[in-house]
Amino acid sequence: MSGRLPIRRLIIAIDGPSGAGKSTVAKRVAEALGYPYIDTGAMYRAVALAVIEKGIEAGDDLEMTRLSESVEMEFQLTDRGQRLLLNGRDVTEAIRTPEVTRLSSPVSAIPGVRRSLVAKQQRMGAGGGVVMEGRDIGSVVFPNADVKVFLTASPLERARRRWNQLTRDGYQVTVEQILKDQAERDERDSTRPDSPLRQMPDALFIDSDRLSVDGVVKLILDRCAELASLSR
Ligand code: DC
Repeated sequence: MSGRLPIRRLIIAIDGPSGAGKSTVAKRVAEALGYPYIDTGAMYRAVALAVIEKGIEAGDDLEMTRLSESVEMEFQLTDRGQRLLLNGRDVTEAIRTPEVTRLSSPVSAIPGVRRSLVAKQQRMGAGGGVVMEGRDIGSVVFPNADVKVFLTASPLERARRRWNQLTRDGYQVTVEQILKDQAERDERDSTRPDSPLRQMPDALFIDSDRLSVDGVVKLILDRCAELASLSR
């Protein structure tokens, strides 16, 4: 495979709803290409965590925007996998609680918060050679990305995956609860006026319901290899 890889450092944008398997796939694609991987959802979650810790009131969009502009975020690859540092503090686990998950959706709908995080993401990927996943990567952050993927799965399958993850982490939740929360988040993330989740016409559409992780990763790497042969 490596002999067929593009010499140019590609920007690979993976968008889709939560639970579609974006993180797992993005990590694997990044590993295969030797690129860093950036989980932009983690960045919105980190702002939500900071909002909770600062006690900022719901609806105070200006204060939340200021906060998102002032925080420092850095991804670090360690022997415990990729970690997210918020103002130098490791928040990798703290951003995965149900409370942060719930708040990250309304926080991510605030235009000022989006503006500052999109600017950070564009700086992180400026040199190319990156796999970035989120909701608006192929539409807003890198509209000229070399490879765009829209990865989705059925609501029930996505809820099942999230249930597995949460129960593994020790949370007591039902699939029904997750389905309800998920439907609310999906609705908000795809109908908000600023950068809603949508499939770009030039994105490779992948439904992961009937595909293994290996199968999805292969489809994306094949698309990268196609670019390599075209650019020769
Ligand atoms: O992918 P996730 O569940 O970790 O994302 C957390 C929230 O952030 C989710 O409600 C959608 C939002 N988000 C976004 O609006 N834009 C992105 N690029 C990534 C995530």
